Amino acid sequence: MKKILVAGSLNMDMVLDVDHHPQPGETILGRKLTYSPGGKGANQAFAVGRLGGDVRMIGCVGADSNGQALIDNLRQAGVDTSAVIPVVDEPTGLAVISVDDCGENCIIVISGANFCLTPELIRKQESVITDCDYIMTQLETPVDAVLELARMARQYGKCMILDPAPARADLPDELFSLIDIMKPNETELRILTGMRTDTDEDIRKAAAVLLEKGVSKVVVTLGDRGALLAEQEGVRFFEGQKVVPVDTTAAGDTFTAALVNGLAEGMVMDEAIHFANKVSSIVVTRAGAQASIPDKEEVKEILRRN
Ligand code: RIB
Repeated sequence: MKKILVAGSLNMDMVLDVDHHPQPGETILGRKLTYSPGGKGANQAFAVGRLGGDVRMIGCVGADSNGQALIDNLRQAGVDTSAVIPVVDEPTGLAVISVDDCGENCIIVISGANFCLTPELIRKQESVITDCDYIMTQLETPVDAVLELARMARQYGKCMILDPAPARADLPDELFSLIDIMKPNETELRILTGMRTDTDEDIRKAAAVLLEKGVSKVVVTLGDRGALLAEQEGVRFFEGQKVVPVDTTAAGDTFTAALVNGLAEGMVMDEAIHFANKVSSIVVTRAGAQASIPDKEEVKEILRRN
């Protein structure tokens, strides 16, 4: 089986159940507070592990109980965490997440130890990088480390996947040219390109700009409408699954993980996108980040029933 490396963030999620998100200046009463393992990088590694992939993670946590809990949870999913480094002087990353009655979330991340993932630390992990086939990362760690990782991925002929979340408008041009697959959602696509993404035509045009910047394939997730694949050969839409949302947290992370795990298992791109749509639609029907991610057997059973 092909090997997958996830480099990125690990956060403890403080999840607040609310009926609606507060407006600026508004105080609301929440219903419940839950602590659960999250972080875009860790969610992706966890999802690959749950889906049966051969996966390891590079990242940083604090030398504290939250960090240990995050490492333990990844190990339970079969993730090799030997390159997840506990650092002193910084706490484990923390995310404050409110989830409303429609399942929509608002997330604020305090990065903590995630910002200790520097280019130097990436270079020290050269043997881990050369030993894998697919490399996935996100933008919750320093951009210069993401760029270094992408350069090494290109140097060693690895397939580089960027989930550009949280999106930012100031990514270096070089980074785009080093990405084989980029997976923004509509909002992230708008921020990355500065273009409108209100209609399908807008989305096609914005995705085309990423291709012009050098990304090989752009997969835009469109919520329950599915996904769009833009590549030099053209643009295709893939229908999504209609489900009643409970919590959309980690749906995008799981989509990316399922897509890459599918490719690593030998699926062609179309198949992998269909599979990713299905797995992420399951995540949306459950609460929590890693807590909502199904394993391979559950996915098979749910797909069989539906
Ligand atoms: O994508 C969801 C994740 O974003 C959460 O788990 C939170 O930790 C933030 O990183």
